[in-house]
Amino acid sequence: MDDLNQFQNFHSIPSTNKYCMELLSKSTPKPFTAISADFQTAGVGQIGSTWVSHPGENVLMSIIVYPDFINVLESFKLQFLASLTCVEVLTPYIDKNELFVKWPNDVLVNRKKIAGVLIRNIFMGSAIRSSVIGFGLNVNQMDFPGVENPVTSLKAVTGQDYDVPALRQQLLDKFRTLYDLLENGKSLKELYMMMLFGYEEPFSFYDLKDQSYKRGVINDVLGSGHLLVKVGGVVEKYDFKEIKFIMDA
Ligand code: BTN
Repeated sequence: MDDLNQFQNFHSIPSTNKYCMELLSKSTPKPFTAISADFQTAGVGQIGSTWVSHPGENVLMSIIVYPDFINVLESFKLQFLASLTCVEVLTPYIDKNELFVKWPNDVLVNRKKIAGVLIRNIFMGSAIRSSVIGFGLNVNQMDFPGVENPVTSLKAVTGQDYDVPALRQQLLDKFRTLYDLLENGKSLKELYMMMLFGYEEPFSFYDLKDQSYKRGVINDVLGSGHLLVKVGGVVEKYDFKEIKFIMDA
């Protein structure tokens, strides 16, 4: 891929994340190389799930970066970056009071998921050598057959159609701006915390460690990504998959 061709859209590929990982395994693409698709035949979601999207209706895009300024122990900084990128793209269209990030990185409108992020890092020593940051942003899709959790799209929220290539470009631009801030030492954590569902606001959840329902407030998110929740007077620490948010409580 040459200098002028750092962005490539495919009509159909298995997964933009997988494609970027393959590129990285055999070359060193320019930073901010972005691969998008109208359709993925094997889109990957969090925790081994699949990401299904109707052809041409949504943003499906992965971006390659080399964040060697981030220590392995702080790799969650990339989640701050990715979630805030989605928030920034959506704020012109969505009432900010309705927009939340559900830890670690689901973006919600009215408690329904509108975007998800999948990050794949390659480490070198104690730093991140390269990273593929994949975004699935629901734009014009109106029905989500077979999806269990509540899902929405820009069109479902506002009733309007959107230009998917324009949103892709906006996402890439916002990503670059926030990435530059991060590289220049700005912490994105405070902004992320402000958007976080349950931050200083009581929420209900299921604790998978001791298998019980609880209510608490988010206290902090560590650089490692661990979530700290204050339950009663006690701060409890959660790893991914150890907590399930109850969104309708
Ligand atoms: C999630 O489950 O919340 C993460 C979803 C990430 C989906 C995007 S779509 C573009 C990129 N390619 C993939 O295969 N997955 C990510």
